[in-house]
Amino acid sequence: MLKDQDRIFTNLYGMHDRSLKGAMKRGHWDGTAKILAMGRDAIVQQVKDSGLRGRGGAGFPTGLKWSFMPKQSDGRPSYLVVNADESEPGTCKDREIMRHDPHTLVEGCLIASFAMGANACYIYIRGEYIREREALQAAIDEAYDAGLIGKNACKSGFDFDLYLHHGAGAYICGEETAMLESLEGKKGMPRMKPPFPAASGLYGCPTTVNNVESIAVVPTILRRGATWFSSFGRPNNAGTKLFGISGHVANPCVVEEAMSIPLKELLEKHCGGVRGGWKNLKAVIPGGSSVPMLNAQQCDDAIMDFDWLREARSGLGTAAVIVMDQSTDVIKAIWRLSKFYKHESCGQCTPCREGTGWMMRVMDRLVRGEAEIEEIDMLLSVTKQVEGHTICALGDAAAWPIQGLIRQFRDEIEDRIKAKKTGRISAVAAE
Ligand SMILES: Cc1cc2nc3c(=O)[nH]c(=O)nc-3n(C[C@H](O)[C@H](O)[C@H](O)COP(=O)(O)O)c2cc1C
Ligand code: SF4
Repeated sequence: MLKDQDRIFTNLYGMHDRSLKGAMKRGHWDGTAKILAMGRDAIVQQVKDSGLRGRGGAGFPTGLKWSFMPKQSDGRPSYLVVNADESEPGTCKDREIMRHDPHTLVEGCLIASFAMGANACYIYIRGEYIREREALQAAIDEAYDAGLIGKNACKSGFDFDLYLHHGAGAYICGEETAMLESLEGKKGMPRMKPPFPAASGLYGCPTTVNNVESIAVVPTILRRGATWFSSFGRPNNAGTKLFGISGHVANPCVVEEAMSIPLKELLEKHCGGVRGGWKNLKAVIPGGSSVPMLNAQQCDDAIMDFDWLREARSGLGTAAVIVMDQSTDVIKAIWRLSKFYKHESCGQCTPCREGTGWMMRVMDRLVRGEAEIEEIDMLLSVTKQVEGHTICALGDAAAWPIQGLIRQFRDEIEDRIKAKKTGRISAVAAE
């Protein structure tokens, strides 16, 4: 189990003072000017060396992403945009940072922006996060008042402005280019890439978009060193990580643990185990609603990191672990996700706009068993036609959970269809 002294987030549960005074007492904002004095390149190098990979879902190496930003301005300003949209079903980790430990993020924004030559940073926060916005805004105001950000931030000679922008509650605005459109005041619709944001992002200027957690861990990495951070987790999967566990466990929670912790250990040490015992486990979605589920057998050996889960044909995603015990109607669970993706599709590309509706309607019938067995393969083939054929990854996100369901529980889908045909209604899910 991760030791308390190795936890970056020391107020995850809001037990302590979240104000600037309290944050400083816990070691935040300590020697920030000295960190900035290391210079841009050294900071980027440290972040690269730490092995930090993006915590927003895709796991792209953070230091490498930062290095794509121009070293010299061509006259355009550069921006950092922090993705605080956190709308992936099951995901509620950034929320705890913003409402209980907001100074980790404010300090991270300053350091990361400095490292990318950005004098301004926008945090785009999810529409529903009202209290979180208030807590974060209070922290930003405190940092301004104390001279930690603003003109000559931390007396470093660097001018830095931090703005908090409140979204209106659309999942698609979490996609980085949709977020940029939304910040510009337009409809949140993803842009075609290239150009990538580092070349042309917010207002056509060089921009990096990073997740809240990716940014909030940076000050501690720089204070404690890249080697400290990379000492956790397997190679290529470094660091400590926030996991958010929900569903059929005794104590659902958000917890900071070492990357590569076995799933079983995570659930048993921090969540009081699976409801009814480990044997009662049916399936786990390990990384937020967009990744394919694991079956119980895979869960026995599952390791919670990017590479293990990718090899198991799933993904770490946002590390939001959704636990389902034997009582779960997995077909219905995935149907509900299909409904979500259909609702959140922005509609600009045909495979996603039409495909999400199509997939949801077939899922709708599979829940009731009102389908033909052949339709299972037809549905699978539709998911393949959507996957990889859209402007943004929402299409993939809608396809993958269904692929996972068919891979793991084809028998159950077939049984339900057969039961319906033979009138064994008890085998069919309740509406
Ligand atoms: C439909 C969709 C929704 C997304 N929602 C979020 C989100 O709520 N928060 C987030 O950090 N990243 C989200 N992402 C990923 C972002 O596009 C982007 O990859 C991420 O913010 C990069 O940050 P990182 O490199 O620090 O992980 C979403 C992606 C897609 C396709
Ligand atoms: S994949 Fe879906 S959400 Fe993404 S741009 Fe296309 S229609 Fe919009």
